[in-house]
Amino acid sequence: MHLQVKKAILPVAGLGTRFLPITKAIPKEMLAIVDRPMIQLIVEEAFSSGISQIILINGHHKGNIEDFFDTNYELNDLLSKKGDIANLEILEKIEKRGFICSLRQKAALGLGHAILCARPLIGDEPFAVLLGDDLIFTDSHTPPALAQLVENYYKTGIAQVALMQVPQTEIHKYGAAEGVADPKNSRNFIINNLVEKPPKGTEKTDQAVVGRYVLTPAIWGILEKLAPSNDGEIQLTDALVHLMKNEGLIGYRFCGSRVDAGDRIGYLRANLTHALLRQELRQDTLALMKELLQEDSTSVNSRSTSSEKR
Ligand code: UTP
Repeated sequence: MHLQVKKAILPVAGLGTRFLPITKAIPKEMLAIVDRPMIQLIVEEAFSSGISQIILINGHHKGNIEDFFDTNYELNDLLSKKGDIANLEILEKIEKRGFICSLRQKAALGLGHAILCARPLIGDEPFAVLLGDDLIFTDSHTPPALAQLVENYYKTGIAQVALMQVPQTEIHKYGAAEGVADPKNSRNFIINNLVEKPPKGTEKTDQAVVGRYVLTPAIWGILEKLAPSNDGEIQLTDALVHLMKNEGLIGYRFCGSRVDAGDRIGYLRANLTHALLRQELRQDTLALMKELLQEDSTSVNSRSTSSEKR
């Protein structure tokens, strides 16, 4: 019997340089996916996966992430005077969903460093990590991605990372997992090497690590001793290599659709995917997508017709 996974770390202290200029003033985790910040979707996934305490690792420039989960008395008072029960309920659901606390990473020294900041609040138990800009969509019949990893941790007792197959030409953007599929369970990939963003031409795998993890407390001692990599950051991937050697590491090929919402096209995709999964928005979103495609093909035709005329 393994200790329950009850606590989750959500590192959100990064600088979001891939999404400038908006991230100069607005944290990317607060960017809207239709009508809610992307961090709300991740918090919801964590609570729906059996997590009861969330620890946000925040940065000094991103206080509005904390504000979002706090109570806005003035607004609640106004809504209640107006009798706007629907909006009041939406806000109360966010405020009362579960325990969320926040601490500061004083400098963005990498994901490994961000996670290590939570050690005093987690202690000697297994815990989850969900990255603040990695969205994994599942349909209503499928458990959230983190719940799938937690379940597999209970079955195996071994730390888990979420794995996704990507075209080999794309693996240089990810932590790349080398290893072998478990013959008894094709969703399990027994990792025997991990390389952070392998340079093009050196790729040995198409299995990419994405932003969900279940880690054991052995990671603390490893992170504490880890030297920064060439870019000065404490890399989680480097710590995972040590964990793999000491205790083993499973790449879990989850069921769901993962989107990097910290990237421009990924962000657009996340908005459309989320809208398509919401019953009340689905038909209008499909109609909008068809309309835009139609408009685009008409304007391409008219562009080529006018250039032919010339
Ligand atoms: P990313 O590398 O995707 O985010 O880290 P980033 O550093 O904000 O973005 P770019 O690459 O400059 O565009 C994944 C997650 O880890 C957090 C980020 O906030 C993001 O949610 N992170 C990253 C930290 O909390 N601290 C860090 O030092 C680095």
